[in-house]
Amino acid sequence: MVCLSRSVPGLGLMTGLTYFKRFRMEIDLRPPLLPVPDVPEDYLLIPWDDGLLARHADTKWRCFRDEIDSEVFPSLAEQAGCLKLMEAIRYRPGFCAGATWLLARGLEYVGTIQGVRDAHGHGAIQNVGIDPRHRGRGLGSLLVLRALHGFREVGVVKAVLEVTARNGGALELYRRLGFRARRTVYKTAEQNPALVAERLAVR
Ligand SMILES: CC(C)(COP(=O)(O)OP(=O)(O)OC[C@H]1O[C@@H](n2cnc3c(N)ncnc32)[C@H](O)[C@@H]1OP(=O)(O)O)[C@@H](O)C(=O)NCCC(=O)NCCS
Repeated sequence: MVCLSRSVPGLGLMTGLTYFKRFRMEIDLRPPLLPVPDVPEDYLLIPWDDGLLARHADTKWRCFRDEIDSEVFPSLAEQAGCLKLMEAIRYRPGFCAGATWLLARGLEYVGTIQGVRDAHGHGAIQNVGIDPRHRGRGLGSLLVLRALHGFREVGVVKAVLEVTARNGGALELYRRLGFRARRTVYKTAEQNPALVAERLAVR
């Protein structure tokens, strides 16, 4: 991560611009894929339904709000931001219902993944998240594999995603499932001016 500061005319503050290193990863869906593991007892894998849009948004928010990706994509830190993101994903022309799943345990929604077909016809995984209290049980891998099979079922031959370099857990998960990093990209994120001012004040 690289941080730069610049003054904002009219605000009288220094604001920070942060560059996050991210990897673009790919997997070829033509060779046999790892099977989708059995859903652990007590959990339920729920296929896409338009009535679930707000559930996906809320689950996304709970999974991402305290994570590095909410610095990279500030909308992920806000409930309203996650709802807007979910609407944008749902109404993109390439939205892929078969690669979009919700995971529940009892009355609680604990995981979400969404997939779209990008302009090249590749299956682009949007966001995969597992509620912090349910991590480390194979559920993230289960959702990614379910989405990959969903892409294959509609004839997609390559799946892609981007992951923040500092997100070691997610990077490792994708590698273990067969994704390989093909490109490094940098995402610029504007830091909250109030937060930057606060940080400058404590120096
Ligand atoms: C990434 C995420 C979905 C993983 O969910 P999960 O249910 O914990 O993942 P799994 O249990 O299937 O993990 C499978 C493997 O991934 C790797 N992994 C996952 N989280 C890890 C962590 N925090 N540290 C190191 N390795 C990790 C491990 O190799 C793990 O294998 P193991 O079970 O033998 O240790 C979850 O941590 C999450 O929601 N993170 C916040 C949102 C996010 O960053 N999503 C990814 C955006 S690209």
